[in-house]
Amino acid sequence: HKQLTIGLFGFGVVGEGLYKVLQQTPSLKASLKKVCIKNPEKKRNAPAELFTTDKDVLLNDPEINVIVEVIDDAVAAFEIVSTALNNNKDVVSASKKMIAENLHALLALQEKTGQSLLYESAACASIPVIRNLEEYYDNDLLHSIKAIVNGSTNFILTKMFEDGLDFKQALILAQQLGFAESNPKLDVEGFDAVNKWTFLLTHAYGITEAPENILFNGIQNIRGTDATVAKEKNQQIRLVAQAKKLHDGRVAAYVLPQFVTQDDPLSFVKNEYNGVVIESGFADKQFFYGKGAGSFPTASAVLSDISALRYQYKYEYKKLYHHKPHEISNDVFLRV
Ligand code: HSE
Repeated sequence: HKQLTIGLFGFGVVGEGLYKVLQQTPSLKASLKKVCIKNPEKKRNAPAELFTTDKDVLLNDPEINVIVEVIDDAVAAFEIVSTALNNNKDVVSASKKMIAENLHALLALQEKTGQSLLYESAACASIPVIRNLEEYYDNDLLHSIKAIVNGSTNFILTKMFEDGLDFKQALILAQQLGFAESNPKLDVEGFDAVNKWTFLLTHAYGITEAPENILFNGIQNIRGTDATVAKEKNQQIRLVAQAKKLHDGRVAAYVLPQFVTQDDPLSFVKNEYNGVVIESGFADKQFFYGKGAGSFPTASAVLSDISALRYQYKYEYKKLYHHKPHEISNDVFLRV
Protein backbone atom coordinates (compact mmCIF):
# COMPACT_ATOMS: atom_id res chain seq x y z
CA HIS A 1 0.00 0.00 0.00
CA LYS A 2 1.01 3.51 -0.81
CA GLN A 3 1.97 5.85 2.07
CA LEU A 4 -0.48 8.76 1.98
CA THR A 5 0.59 12.28 2.93
CA ILE A 6 -2.28 14.70 2.77
CA GLY A 7 -2.52 18.41 2.08
CA LEU A 8 -5.97 19.68 3.02
CA PHE A 9 -7.72 22.73 1.59
CA GLY A 10 -10.50 24.02 3.83
CA PHE A 11 -11.16 23.72 7.54
CA GLY A 12 -14.91 24.34 7.76
CA VAL A 13 -17.61 21.86 8.71
CA VAL A 14 -16.15 19.12 6.49
CA GLY A 15 -12.44 19.95 6.85
CA GLU A 16 -12.50 20.02 10.62
CA GLY A 17 -14.63 16.89 10.63
CA LEU A 18 -12.02 15.13 8.51
CA TYR A 19 -9.22 16.32 10.82
CA LYS A 20 -10.95 14.70 13.79
CA VAL A 21 -11.85 11.56 11.86
CA LEU A 22 -8.21 11.09 10.74
CA GLN A 23 -7.06 11.37 14.35
CA GLN A 24 -9.41 8.54 15.25
CA THR A 25 -8.34 6.27 12.40
CA PRO A 26 -4.56 5.78 12.82
CA SER A 27 -4.73 2.39 11.10
CA LEU A 28 -5.33 4.21 7.81
CA LYS A 29 -1.68 5.35 7.87
CA ALA A 30 -2.58 8.62 6.21
CA SER A 31 -0.86 11.64 7.69
CA LEU A 32 -2.14 15.18 7.42
CA LYS A 33 0.84 17.42 6.72
CA LYS A 34 -0.61 20.85 6.08
CA VAL A 35 -3.96 22.66 5.93
CA CYS A 36 -4.52 25.65 3.67
CA ILE A 37 -7.11 28.13 4.93
CA LYS A 38 -8.43 31.47 3.73
CA ASN A 39 -8.82 33.33 7.00
CA PRO A 40 -5.85 33.03 9.41
CA GLU A 41 -7.61 35.11 12.08
CA LYS A 42 -10.26 32.51 12.77
CA LYS A 43 -9.77 30.39 15.90
CA ARG A 44 -9.09 26.74 14.98
CA ASN A 45 -9.16 23.63 17.13
CA ALA A 46 -5.83 22.36 15.85
CA PRO A 47 -2.11 23.26 16.26
CA ALA A 48 -1.26 26.60 14.61
CA GLU A 49 1.76 25.13 12.75
CA LEU A 50 -0.58 22.92 10.74
CA PHE A 51 -2.03 25.92 8.91
CA THR A 52 -0.92 28.10 6.05
CA THR A 53 -2.65 30.56 3.74
CA ASP A 54 -0.25 29.84 0.87
CA LYS A 55 -1.69 27.22 -1.47
CA ASP A 56 1.68 26.60 -3.13
CA VAL A 57 3.07 25.27 0.15
CA LEU A 58 0.75 22.29 -0.36
CA LEU A 59 0.65 22.09 -4.14
CA ASN A 60 4.45 22.23 -4.56
CA ASP A 61 5.38 19.93 -1.69
CA PRO A 62 6.73 16.72 -3.30
CA GLU A 63 6.03 14.76 -0.11
CA ILE A 64 2.30 15.54 -0.28
CA ASN A 65 0.80 12.97 -2.66
CA VAL A 66 -2.87 13.54 -1.84
CA ILE A 67 -4.76 16.82 -1.99
CA VAL A 68 -8.11 16.87 -0.20
CA GLU A 69 -10.16 19.87 -1.26
CA VAL A 70 -13.24 20.79 0.77
CA ILE A 71 -13.59 24.53 0.20
CA ASP A 72 -16.72 26.49 -0.61
CA ASP A 73 -15.59 28.52 -3.63
CA ALA A 74 -16.11 26.50 -6.84
CA VAL A 75 -13.77 28.63 -8.97
CA ALA A 76 -10.89 28.43 -6.48
CA ALA A 77 -11.61 24.71 -6.00
CA PHE A 78 -11.26 24.00 -9.73
CA GLU A 79 -7.94 25.85 -9.80
CA ILE A 80 -6.63 23.84 -6.84
CA VAL A 81 -7.84 20.50 -8.20
CA SER A 82 -6.41 21.09 -11.69
CA THR A 83 -3.05 22.21 -10.35
CA ALA A 84 -2.88 19.24 -7.99
CA LEU A 85 -3.65 16.73 -10.77
CA ASN A 86 -1.12 18.38 -13.07
CA ASN A 87 1.45 18.18 -10.24
CA ASN A 88 0.87 14.41 -10.10
CA LYS A 89 -1.11 14.34 -6.89
CA ASP A 90 -4.26 12.33 -6.34
CA VAL A 91 -7.25 14.44 -5.38
CA VAL A 92 -10.27 13.94 -3.16
CA SER A 93 -12.89 16.66 -3.48
CA ALA A 94 -16.23 17.43 -1.86
CA SER A 95 -17.05 20.40 -4.12
CA LYS A 96 -20.24 19.36 -5.85
CA LYS A 97 -20.76 22.67 -7.66
CA MET A 98 -17.20 22.65 -8.99
CA ILE A 99 -17.53 19.03 -10.16
CA ALA A 100 -20.92 19.56 -11.82
CA GLU A 101 -19.75 22.66 -13.67
CA ASN A 102 -16.41 21.26 -14.85
CA LEU A 103 -17.07 17.61 -15.60
CA HIS A 104 -15.65 17.62 -19.12
CA ALA A 105 -12.47 19.43 -18.11
CA LEU A 106 -12.00 17.19 -15.07
CA LEU A 107 -12.45 14.03 -17.12
CA ALA A 108 -9.88 15.27 -19.64
CA LEU A 109 -7.44 16.15 -16.86
CA GLN A 110 -7.73 12.71 -15.33
CA GLU A 111 -7.07 11.10 -18.71
CA LYS A 112 -4.05 13.29 -19.22
CA THR A 113 -2.46 12.99 -15.79
CA GLY A 114 -3.44 9.43 -14.88
CA GLN A 115 -4.09 10.56 -11.31
CA SER A 116 -7.20 9.69 -9.31
CA LEU A 117 -9.92 12.22 -8.65
CA LEU A 118 -12.52 10.88 -6.22
CA TYR A 119 -15.56 12.69 -4.85
CA GLU A 120 -17.79 10.19 -3.11
CA SER A 121 -18.68 12.78 -0.45
CA ALA A 122 -20.01 15.25 -3.02
CA ALA A 123 -23.36 13.49 -3.34
CA CYS A 124 -25.41 11.97 -0.52
CA ALA A 125 -22.46 12.31 1.90
CA SER A 126 -22.32 9.04 3.84
CA ILE A 127 -24.10 6.89 1.22
CA PRO A 128 -21.56 5.29 -1.16
CA VAL A 129 -23.68 6.14 -4.18
CA ILE A 130 -21.02 6.96 -6.79
CA ARG A 131 -19.00 3.84 -6.19
CA ASN A 132 -22.21 1.84 -6.27
CA LEU A 133 -23.23 3.29 -9.64
CA GLU A 134 -19.71 2.81 -10.98
CA GLU A 135 -19.26 -0.76 -9.93
CA TYR A 136 -22.54 -2.54 -9.56
CA TYR A 137 -24.73 -2.04 -12.61
CA ASP A 138 -24.02 -2.92 -16.17
CA ASN A 139 -24.82 -0.02 -18.46
CA ASP A 140 -28.02 -1.46 -19.81
CA LEU A 141 -29.41 -2.81 -16.57
CA LEU A 142 -30.09 0.43 -14.74
CA HIS A 143 -33.77 1.21 -15.29
CA SER A 144 -34.29 4.14 -12.93
CA ILE A 145 -32.95 6.07 -9.97
CA LYS A 146 -35.02 8.14 -7.62
CA ALA A 147 -33.27 9.97 -4.83
CA ILE A 148 -33.22 12.59 -2.14
CA VAL A 149 -29.81 14.21 -2.59
CA ASN A 150 -30.09 17.40 -0.54
CA GLY A 151 -30.10 17.14 3.24
CA SER A 152 -31.02 20.74 4.03
CA THR A 153 -34.24 20.84 2.02
CA ASN A 154 -35.24 17.45 3.37
CA PHE A 155 -34.50 18.71 6.87
CA ILE A 156 -36.58 21.85 6.27
CA LEU A 157 -39.52 19.91 4.78
CA THR A 158 -39.51 17.48 7.70
CA LYS A 159 -39.24 20.19 10.35
CA MET A 160 -41.98 22.29 8.71
CA PHE A 161 -44.54 19.64 7.89
CA GLU A 162 -43.94 17.09 10.61
CA ASP A 163 -42.55 19.11 13.55
CA GLY A 164 -44.44 22.39 13.05
CA LEU A 165 -41.49 24.80 12.64
CA ASP A 166 -41.79 27.65 10.17
CA PHE A 167 -39.49 27.89 7.16
CA LYS A 168 -37.13 30.42 8.73
CA GLN A 169 -36.69 28.52 12.00
CA ALA A 170 -36.04 25.30 10.09
CA LEU A 171 -33.46 26.96 7.85
CA ILE A 172 -31.64 28.56 10.78
CA LEU A 173 -31.49 25.18 12.49
CA ALA A 174 -30.10 23.56 9.32
CA GLN A 175 -27.44 26.29 9.19
CA GLN A 176 -26.52 25.85 12.86
CA LEU A 177 -26.15 22.11 12.40
CA GLY A 178 -23.81 22.64 9.44
CA PHE A 179 -26.05 21.15 6.74
CA ALA A 180 -26.83 24.26 4.71
CA GLU A 181 -24.65 25.85 2.03
CA SER A 182 -23.15 29.21 3.00
CA ASN A 183 -25.59 30.63 0.46
CA PRO A 184 -28.76 28.72 1.46
CA LYS A 185 -30.45 29.69 -1.81
CA LEU A 186 -28.33 26.93 -3.38
CA ASP A 187 -30.13 24.37 -1.22
CA VAL A 188 -33.62 25.88 -1.11
CA GLU A 189 -33.95 26.62 -4.83
CA GLY A 190 -32.61 23.23 -5.94
CA PHE A 191 -29.19 24.26 -7.31
CA ASP A 192 -27.27 21.96 -4.97
CA ALA A 193 -29.53 19.02 -5.80
CA VAL A 194 -29.25 19.51 -9.56
CA ASN A 195 -25.47 19.87 -9.28
CA LYS A 196 -25.29 16.50 -7.55
CA TRP A 197 -27.74 15.00 -10.04
CA THR A 198 -25.53 16.18 -12.92
CA PHE A 199 -22.59 13.98 -11.99
CA LEU A 200 -24.68 11.14 -10.60
CA LEU A 201 -26.18 10.92 -14.10
CA THR A 202 -22.64 10.65 -15.46
CA HIS A 203 -21.83 7.71 -13.23
CA ALA A 204 -25.22 6.09 -13.82
CA TYR A 205 -25.73 6.60 -17.54
CA GLY A 206 -22.66 8.27 -19.03
CA ILE A 207 -24.56 11.53 -19.48
CA THR A 208 -22.34 14.60 -19.21
CA GLU A 209 -24.82 17.43 -19.30
CA ALA A 210 -24.44 20.93 -17.87
CA PRO A 211 -26.56 21.42 -14.73
CA GLU A 212 -28.50 24.25 -16.39
CA ASN A 213 -29.78 21.80 -19.02
CA ILE A 214 -31.48 19.64 -16.42
CA LEU A 215 -35.02 20.53 -15.40
CA PHE A 216 -35.13 21.43 -11.72
CA ASN A 217 -36.96 23.31 -9.04
CA GLY A 218 -36.43 23.62 -5.31
CA ILE A 219 -38.80 23.92 -2.40
CA GLN A 220 -39.13 27.72 -2.54
CA ASN A 221 -42.71 27.58 -3.79
CA ILE A 222 -44.00 24.94 -1.39
CA ARG A 223 -46.74 26.31 0.86
CA GLY A 224 -48.73 25.10 3.84
CA THR A 225 -51.61 24.28 1.48
CA ASP A 226 -49.37 21.76 -0.31
CA ALA A 227 -48.74 20.09 3.01
CA THR A 228 -52.48 20.00 3.70
CA VAL A 229 -53.11 18.28 0.37
CA ALA A 230 -50.27 15.84 1.07
CA LYS A 231 -51.74 15.02 4.46
CA GLU A 232 -55.22 14.44 3.00
CA LYS A 233 -53.69 11.98 0.54
CA ASN A 234 -51.62 10.40 3.30
CA GLN A 235 -48.43 11.35 1.44
CA GLN A 236 -45.22 13.31 2.10
CA ILE A 237 -43.58 16.15 0.21
CA ARG A 238 -39.98 15.48 -0.82
CA LEU A 239 -37.51 17.14 -3.19
CA VAL A 240 -36.90 14.22 -5.55
CA ALA A 241 -34.15 13.79 -8.12
CA GLN A 242 -35.25 11.29 -10.71
CA ALA A 243 -33.90 9.58 -13.80
CA LYS A 244 -35.53 6.92 -15.89
CA LYS A 245 -34.49 5.16 -19.06
CA LEU A 246 -37.06 5.68 -21.82
CA HIS A 247 -37.90 3.16 -24.52
CA ASP A 248 -35.97 5.14 -27.12
CA GLY A 249 -32.73 4.88 -25.08
CA ARG A 250 -32.82 8.43 -23.82
CA VAL A 251 -33.05 9.20 -20.11
CA ALA A 252 -35.69 11.46 -18.58
CA ALA A 253 -34.06 13.33 -15.70
CA TYR A 254 -35.04 16.16 -13.39
CA VAL A 255 -35.15 17.41 -9.81
CA LEU A 256 -38.61 18.48 -8.58
CA PRO A 257 -40.65 18.51 -5.40
CA GLN A 258 -43.12 15.65 -5.40
CA PHE A 259 -45.70 13.95 -3.26
CA VAL A 260 -44.42 10.52 -2.26
CA THR A 261 -46.70 7.75 -1.09
CA GLN A 262 -46.33 5.90 2.23
CA ASP A 263 -45.07 2.77 0.51
CA ASP A 264 -42.29 4.72 -1.24
CA PRO A 265 -38.98 4.24 0.63
CA LEU A 266 -38.29 7.97 0.16
CA SER A 267 -41.18 8.79 2.52
CA PHE A 268 -39.08 7.13 5.20
CA VAL A 269 -36.19 9.58 4.61
CA LYS A 270 -36.42 12.38 7.14
CA ASN A 271 -34.34 15.33 8.34
CA GLU A 272 -30.79 15.48 6.94
CA TYR A 273 -30.91 11.92 5.69
CA ASN A 274 -30.71 11.13 1.99
CA GLY A 275 -32.05 8.07 0.18
CA VAL A 276 -31.56 6.44 -3.19
CA VAL A 277 -33.98 3.97 -4.76
CA ILE A 278 -32.61 2.06 -7.72
CA GLU A 279 -34.45 -0.24 -10.07
CA SER A 280 -32.33 -2.49 -12.21
CA GLY A 281 -32.41 -5.76 -14.08
CA PHE A 282 -32.21 -8.86 -11.84
CA ALA A 283 -31.71 -6.94 -8.58
CA ASP A 284 -35.21 -5.47 -8.86
CA LYS A 285 -35.49 -2.65 -6.33
CA GLN A 286 -32.76 -1.50 -3.92
CA PHE A 287 -32.87 1.27 -1.32
CA PHE A 288 -29.79 3.05 0.05
CA TYR A 289 -30.14 5.27 3.09
CA GLY A 290 -27.84 7.42 5.20
CA LYS A 291 -26.95 10.90 6.39
CA GLY A 292 -26.60 13.24 3.41
CA ALA A 293 -25.05 16.23 5.15
CA GLY A 294 -23.10 17.16 8.27
CA SER A 295 -19.53 17.11 9.45
CA PHE A 296 -18.80 13.45 10.27
CA PRO A 297 -21.08 11.79 7.68
CA THR A 298 -19.39 13.85 4.95
CA ALA A 299 -15.92 13.28 6.41
CA SER A 300 -16.70 9.56 6.45
CA ALA A 301 -17.08 9.58 2.67
CA VAL A 302 -13.92 11.69 2.23
CA LEU A 303 -12.11 9.16 4.41
CA SER A 304 -13.36 6.29 2.26
CA ASP A 305 -11.94 8.04 -0.82
CA ILE A 306 -8.57 8.58 0.88
CA SER A 307 -8.56 4.93 1.86
CA ALA A 308 -9.40 3.88 -1.72
CA LEU A 309 -6.34 5.80 -3.00
CA ARG A 310 -4.14 3.24 -1.27
CA TYR A 311 -5.10 0.76 -3.93
CA GLN A 312 -5.10 3.43 -6.66
CA TYR A 313 -8.86 3.33 -7.12
CA LYS A 314 -10.14 5.38 -10.03
CA TYR A 315 -13.59 5.97 -11.39
CA GLU A 316 -13.58 4.26 -14.75
CA TYR A 317 -16.45 6.16 -16.34
CA LYS A 318 -16.66 2.91 -18.23
CA LYS A 319 -20.19 3.62 -19.31
CA LEU A 320 -19.09 6.90 -20.78
CA TYR A 321 -16.12 5.58 -22.68
CA HIS A 322 -17.23 2.13 -23.73
CA HIS A 323 -20.83 2.79 -24.65
CA LYS A 324 -22.67 5.41 -26.53
CA PRO A 325 -23.73 7.84 -23.79
CA HIS A 326 -27.43 8.11 -23.24
CA GLU A 327 -29.02 11.33 -24.32
CA ILE A 328 -30.96 13.34 -21.82
CA SER A 329 -34.65 14.10 -22.12
CA ASN A 330 -36.75 16.33 -19.96
CA ASP A 331 -39.88 14.26 -20.55
CA VAL A 332 -41.72 14.44 -17.29
CA PHE A 333 -43.24 11.32 -15.83
CA LEU A 334 -44.57 12.74 -12.61
CA ARG A 335 -47.03 10.52 -10.84
CA VAL A 336 -49.05 12.30 -8.21
N1 HSE B 1 -26.03 21.64 1.71
C1 HSE B 1 -25.84 20.27 1.36
C2 HSE B 1 -27.09 19.51 1.73
C3 HSE B 1 -24.66 19.72 2.09
O1 HSE B 1 -27.88 20.03 2.52
O2 HSE B 1 -27.30 18.42 1.24
C4 HSE B 1 -24.28 18.32 1.68
O3 HSE B 1 -23.91 18.27 0.33
